[in-house]
Amino acid sequence: MINPPPWMTLIIFVSMLGLCFWMWRKLFLERDSAPEGSAATLEEMAEAQKVLQDQLAQSQKMQAVGLLAGGIAHDFNNLLTAISGFCDLLLLRHRAGDPSFADIMQIRQNANRGANLVRQLLAFSRQQTLQPKAHDLTDVLSDISHLLRRLIGENIKLELQHGRDLGLVFIDLGQMEQVLVNLVVNARDAMPMGGDLTLRTFVENVLSPRRIGNETMAAGEWMAIEVADTGSGMPPEVLARIFDPFFTTKEVGKGTGLGLSTAFGIIKQSGGYLQVTSEVGKGTSFMIFLPRYEGAAPVKESVIPKAEDTTGSGTILLVEDEDAVRNFAARALKHKGYEVIEADSGVTGLEAFKSTDKKISLMISDVVMPEMDGPTLYGHLIKVRPDLRVIFVSGYTEERLKPLLGDTSNPNIHFLTKPFSLAQLTALVKEILG
Ligand SMILES: Nc1ncnc2c1ncn2[C@@H]1O[C@H](COP(=O)(O)OP(=O)(O)OP(=O)(O)O)[C@@H](O)[C@H]1O
Ligand SMILES: [Mg+2]
Repeated sequence: MINPPPWMTLIIFVSMLGLCFWMWRKLFLERDSAPEGSAATLEEMAEAQKVLQDQLAQSQKMQAVGLLAGGIAHDFNNLLTAISGFCDLLLLRHRAGDPSFADIMQIRQNANRGANLVRQLLAFSRQQTLQPKAHDLTDVLSDISHLLRRLIGENIKLELQHGRDLGLVFIDLGQMEQVLVNLVVNARDAMPMGGDLTLRTFVENVLSPRRIGNETMAAGEWMAIEVADTGSGMPPEVLARIFDPFFTTKEVGKGTGLGLSTAFGIIKQSGGYLQVTSEVGKGTSFMIFLPRYEGAAPVKESVIPKAEDTTGSGTILLVEDEDAVRNFAARALKHKGYEVIEADSGVTGLEAFKSTDKKISLMISDVVMPEMDGPTLYGHLIKVRPDLRVIFVSGYTEERLKPLLGDTSNPNIHFLTKPFSLAQLTALVKEILG
């Protein structure tokens, strides 16, 4: 027998070894791992689908809440217009120094608070188009603190610390309030057994550029708001993901995971930064930094009707289906010297216009009314009187009413948002007719 050369033996041996290894892999590793791998993928897909479904359900719920809020806001704005309006009428007779003055002011201020709440609801459900304006940080915080107190419940202590010599900030008030609401609700959720919540404003003097997350905040003076809680705190792996949309550690139905991503977006839009520090078991602090606004100070709306002369003359057609609002507006206008023809619907408004022999100088009309809405009524009237001027009064923003109103650039069309005060109403009428 011929012995094969040693190199041949080596090749055969190595090939055999390779073949064995290949078969072992095929038989054991891949057979076992393949089905397991696909099962895992299926499970993951089912899980992902469930998460998506939950998110959809939650966002649909939010949408429903938003619609509801819009509806409630409409009715509330009517009520609040009437309440603060009648207070304005009372204030005409009970000036500062009168024993009733303080009580009336109390009612009026509470009506204002109610109006703020409605604005909150609308902003929260993002039904309002809002614009940035100059604001005093102290006022922003004071105004929203009532709402925040109600949000956190009884067993959490809220402390407000107003900084000194704060500058102005240029922000969209509704959006900034939404940021604060989101942060405070998170803090509340982190303290189910109660704790301390501190809201603090101060001026942060940044000496050299500061790293915040992936960004760098420039040196200079920044207006800061801190929201600090003594709650559960967050471990690093949670902290790393909190600004991701839909990231939540809350159980299904409790959180959408949108709170912080929205807040982050709004602060970015305002040219600011959001910094977070947290320690498990100790608590969490969110710090909002906003650029200082160098422009002019905001004009504060006076609570007491302005002293300027808002008396005038002429006949006004007042169309409003809400009795209390119409009564207040009619009295306010008559008090200023105008003659007022009242109508409680679009249809009666049209009749009143046709039957009167007086020349109507101005129509003031609600927008949304049953049967015939304000814009439709106006459409009928300008066929006879193309130059008729109108003030549309509504709880909705101009933006949302555009489809109803059509061409709002028409100089004869004016707009007044509910709730409005006596001063706002009479000042606008004077401006148009004066
Ligand atoms: N103050 C806090 N203390 C402890 N954990 C917090 C705090 N703020 C946020 N978190 C954590 O960050 C996660 C994301 O917060 P985010 O506000 O974005 O969503 P959410 O509160 O879960 O839901 P949503 O705000 O949409 O209802 C929370 O689920 C929570 O785990
Ligand atoms: Mg949240």
